[in-house]
Amino acid sequence: HEEKTRVKNIQVVEMGPFEIDTWYYSPYPEEYSQVHKLFICEFCLKYMKKKKSLVRHKEKCQARHPPGDEIYRTISTSQGSIKLEQAQLEDHSFNGQAGSDKAMQGTLLSVFEVDGKRNKLYCQNLCLLAKLFLDHKTLYYDVDAFLFYILTEVNNCGHHIVGYFSKEKNSLEDYNMACILTLPPFQRKGYGRFLIALAYELSKKEGKVGTPERPLSDLGQVSFKSYWSRALLEALRDHGANMSIKDLSLMTGIRNEDIINTLQSLNLIKYYKGQHIISVSAKVIEEHLKTFSPQPFWVIDPAKLLWTPLA
Ligand code: COA
Ligand code: NA
Repeated sequence: HEEKTRVKNIQVVEMGPFEIDTWYYSPYPEEYSQVHKLFICEFCLKYMKKKKSLVRHKEKCQARHPPGDEIYRTISTSQGSIKLEQAQLEDHSFNGQAGSDKAMQGTLLSVFEVDGKRNKLYCQNLCLLAKLFLDHKTLYYDVDAFLFYILTEVNNCGHHIVGYFSKEKNSLEDYNMACILTLPPFQRKGYGRFLIALAYELSKKEGKVGTPERPLSDLGQVSFKSYWSRALLEALRDHGANMSIKDLSLMTGIRNEDIINTLQSLNLIKYYKGQHIISVSAKVIEEHLKTFSPQPFWVIDPAKLLWTPLA
């Protein structure tokens, strides 16, 4: 793990309205890795050494959203996601406010699918940015074989990136996610969970089960464990605790091994005569579910997902 021991080079990135302290080394080209602060265009992700260059760049950069296809839109409110009217879905100048009703107001979220081969530079820039917050080696320049799913918050000025995950186009190992990142200013708001839920929704549309590529970082580990626990407990609550592991896998897209490990750590499974048996009462499920923060669990509505698997 040579990369891990490399000394952190860039200390701060300025991006949109944020100044973000970096966490780890990232292999930006030599001349950019000497600076203390790197300036990044929040729309095309081009990186620059000087504020002046960013100001000049912003005058000519046409991008207001990630490249690629928009595959999902939703509004998140404190009550969870609400249904958008068709007109709002089609109106790209939509300002992120749903209706006049206060309770209906929320943040408009949108997801773009970007092909690493078709939009190589954008995806390379994204990977370099992501490495600043990932301690293990990851891909930077070889992005052709990957798709990138970019989550944005939308307002009048454009689509502002909050996070993403990458996915191998053809994984032989059922990986439905390579890397995941929520940019630090947006962490702990449920966006990581939203991206993980999306990855499983895509797997289900492919008729597959999925799992994230290993190793997971510490934050990746807690996020997945939290997602798996909650998804499985909610499935058991909603569909009865008499389900088999196979039923749970079909329902959630989570692979058997991850289901067994999660249920074991929750103490909800027994190994009896060579078989794993789920053993849980409604009361115990409710007790476990109470331990999760009341933050809305952003459920992805598959009917609104404008996406079909690659041929
Ligand atoms: N400390 C403790 N628990 C945490 C946590 C933290 N810093 N971050 C996430 N979790 C757990 C919590 O259980 C959380 O639920 P809660 O907030 O209701 O308690 C759950 O994960 C989901 O959190 P969420 O807000 O959806 O995650 P996020 O948007 O902050 O994103 C990551 C999670 C992993 C994507 C983000 O931490 C990140 O980008 N880390 C750096 C890159 C990385 O390590 N990626 C994983 C590589 S495998
Ligand atoms: Na990546």
